[in-house]
Amino acid sequence: MPDFAIYPSLKGRSVFVSGGGSGIGAAIVKHFAAQGARVAFADIDEGASLALVQKIAAAGHAKPLFKLCDLREIGAYQTALAEVAAAHGPITVLVNNAAHDDRHKLEDVTPAYWDERIAVNLRHAYFAIQAVAPGMKRTGGGSIVNFSSVSYHVMTPNLSVYQAAKAATIGMTRGLARDLGPDGIRLNAITPGWIMTQRQIDLWLTPESEKALMQAQCLKEKLYPPDIARMALWLASDDSRLVTAQNFVVDGGRM
Ligand SMILES: NC(=O)c1ccc[n+]([C@@H]2O[C@H](COP(=O)([O-])OP(=O)(O)OC[C@H]3O[C@@H](n4cnc5c(N)ncnc54)[C@H](O)[C@@H]3O)[C@@H](O)[C@H]2O)c1
Repeated sequence: MPDFAIYPSLKGRSVFVSGGGSGIGAAIVKHFAAQGARVAFADIDEGASLALVQKIAAAGHAKPLFKLCDLREIGAYQTALAEVAAAHGPITVLVNNAAHDDRHKLEDVTPAYWDERIAVNLRHAYFAIQAVAPGMKRTGGGSIVNFSSVSYHVMTPNLSVYQAAKAATIGMTRGLARDLGPDGIRLNAITPGWIMTQRQIDLWLTPESEKALMQAQCLKEKLYPPDIARMALWLASDDSRLVTAQNFVVDGGRM
């Protein structure tokens, strides 16, 4: 088993992860907890989130603070972020991880569906940044990690609204990196390849899709949530202190 890094700069840091209850977000929450950070997360899935909190406590780490919240409700979400800052100190690491990759066909998309998908896959990230930026400014800076996706590069079928949101995430990251850089706030994006969360395995992994993936990737191994969580750790830590406005592709060499 390889050994992975411990980042002294993450110890005690106030970290917030959206959609941290399951999938990649849960791995990110676990990895920050294992670094000794003060971790909080929001999710709509109460059962999975409470189970994660117990699992992390049982592993001997500080209990993460869980906020039950639908990120489509911006007012409630910003209130939850303020409560986290009051409990843990100003959030200086924000990981905008939450999303949902519902399939859809062009002819079936209504304006209401479009708005709802953009709310799940893009809008909450912008308003979370708006909520945490003043605290980051006051404390001398921070690191914001946004999530894009390989899917718009490889043109996965029936995902166009999600892909529009994930492409926009890169523009948002670069624009706000310019605006917030003078305050010491860094923004970067992670573009995951196909990551084997339980949901992805249950919905899409077949012998055929696995064979195609292995042909497409330079590295012939499936990626799992910890492979993405370790990139988030590095981007949050002081080890990446002068890195901003960038997009980091973690896909085994597929794009
Ligand atoms: N898994 C992959 O292969 C893959 C590939 C490319 C990009 N990504 C990106 O990585 C990130 C994490 O992906 P994942 O596969 O773990 O996603 P997921 O769908 O498995 O999990 C996302 C989490 O967000 C939560 N969530 C969804 N809607 C919410 C809402 N309205 N309010 C609050 N919480 C909500 C879910 O409950 C879940 O815990 C996403 O941004 C995704 O777009 C994933």
